[in-house]
Amino acid sequence: MKRSAVLGLLLLTAGLVLALVLAQRFQRPVAVNFYLTADTQGFLVPCGCKVVPAGGLARRVSALQALERLAGNEPVIPVEATHGFADRGPGREILNREMGRFYASTGTLVGLGGYDLLLGPEALRMAAPGVPLYLAGREPYRGSKAFRLGGWGVPPLGARGGLLRLVFLAQTPPGGATLRDPMEVMAEEVRLHPADRYMVVGQLAPPTTAALLDAFPKILVVAVQWGTDVTTIPQQRKGQWILYLGDRGRRGASVRVAWSGGQWEVLPMIRYLGPEVPSDPATAAQVAQVLKAVDAVNVRALAALASADKARGGYTGSARCASCHADAHRVWSISPHARATSDLAIDHQQSNPDCLVCHATGLGKPGGYPRPDLDLSGVQCEACHGPSEGHPPRPLEVLPPSQASCGTCHTPRDSPLFDARGYWQLIKHK
Ligand code: HEC
Ligand code: HEC
Ligand code: HEC
Ligand code: HEC
Repeated sequence: MKRSAVLGLLLLTAGLVLALVLAQRFQRPVAVNFYLTADTQGFLVPCGCKVVPAGGLARRVSALQALERLAGNEPVIPVEATHGFADRGPGREILNREMGRFYASTGTLVGLGGYDLLLGPEALRMAAPGVPLYLAGREPYRGSKAFRLGGWGVPPLGARGGLLRLVFLAQTPPGGATLRDPMEVMAEEVRLHPADRYMVVGQLAPPTTAALLDAFPKILVVAVQWGTDVTTIPQQRKGQWILYLGDRGRRGASVRVAWSGGQWEVLPMIRYLGPEVPSDPATAAQVAQVLKAVDAVNVRALAALASADKARGGYTGSARCASCHADAHRVWSISPHARATSDLAIDHQQSNPDCLVCHATGLGKPGGYPRPDLDLSGVQCEACHGPSEGHPPRPLEVLPPSQASCGTCHTPRDSPLFDARGYWQLIKHK
């Protein structure tokens, strides 16, 4: 009798311990952390932009590791919101294979936008084999991914907790592939998953974001990219969060979404991936190797474009103009146009013909860049006034600054803030 009581007690204790262990095991985390970047477009190294070079995969890895340490037991999901792949340049296949390898090794969820789609499904599949690609409303890509937070992992209790759904949305960007209306696509997602709360990531203009938030109050947070738009501090709009991630993978944002006591909590942060962010040495070494291979391909492609027809082009170079147009030359020589080719070197793109078509003078034209006998680097006088052989006395072209004359290079994609009058004031000369 006594023995069986002891045995019963032991069994009861064992059962309780087992239940506790199972409970621990099947209890879901209440929060998930996303680490978001956007528009990396194959920039493996910090983008050599006007301010401070920022971004790059090596910095991203160390920022991601820092977030993982901070998050402790909570999952950390890296997300490239849109346009992570390079769609320009003869080296893009090599760049994109490296992006794909990076996404696979970090478990990044990759969203597509209208520039990625210019590559076509086959190139995308080859770039990132095994990496799930997302864009809602666009076959064959996935549209959304659900995260169940809180509650228990065993049915029938599995229904407890909150469902957060990450939806990948994009609208047609300037010069990009045509996409479906994101409002319509979002409405479909909500119809399919009416009980969920949403986090929207992708490529959306500010007015579209505002319309989405008005139409779909179950969106907790929007973290998207559009041109150079940036929110240096996350913005709140009637309790919904908005983050603009900026261009060329220069910023990393962390968003912690928690389902705590039946309430949703969102904690967003955004940070510039500048020089103060350390670089992961292993990633930096890998990237350096890849860039060498890309540069070799670029150099070969550029050499093939070099014009055999030097004499017929009539380019004489900006240096010649200085003697008679000293003021115009001075204004030009300190303008970004003069540096347009050398600036590309910071990005290791100095030989990429798809960049040099705007960042040098006369690429692809007879006698244009690159010329071993004449420096035509930068956006020189003749990029705007035309080849000047015989001038003077032959008059040169003088078109007023406008969308038509400057817009061949200042396109909505590459110069989203361009306005002819304002920009002319910055390079005004006569
Ligand atoms: C269609 C013309 C065009 C092409 C193609 C182009 N660019 Fe540019 N790029 C521009 C113009 C115009 C600007 C100036 C934008 C402004 O300040 O409004 C610019 C600016 C830049 C800047 C400075 C941006 C900043 O934020 O400070 C970098 C870096 C750059 N381009 C790199 C590249 C690279 C790399 C490529 C090729 C992958 C490329 N560009 C292709 C026209 C072009
Ligand atoms: C052949 C291509 C080309 C043409 C044509 C062109 N630009 Fe540019 N422009 C560029 C590039 C490339 C840059 C970026 C240079 C850099 O920062 O490396 C740039 C930069 C600029 C900048 C500096 C912007 C900034 O934010 O610092 C101004 C201003 C500008 N362009 C004005 C004009 C105006 C006005 C016209 C027309 C009269 C014009 N450009 C025509 C290629 C061009
Ligand atoms: C980015 C394009 C661009 C570049 C580069 C450029 N110019 Fe110009 N330039 C213009 C435009 C546009 C005008 C006309 C402005 C107007 O309509 O008021 C102009 C006007 C002039 C004029 C006055 C013409 C007149 O009759 O009023 C001269 C001279 C001139 N440029 C010389 C030069 C020289 C020399 C260089 C190089 C050192 C140069 N420009 C570089 C776009 C450019
Ligand atoms: C030997 C001196 C000389 C040199 C070198 C020279 N120019 Fe001129 N340029 C002139 C004279 C003179 C005019 C007419 C000025 C006037 O009528 O106000 C002129 C006018 C212009 C104009 C206004 C349109 C026109 O043809 O009347 C532009 C634009 C211009 N030059 C650009 C250039 C550029 C770009 C270069 C270099 C590639 C250059 N010039 C080299 C002397 C020169």
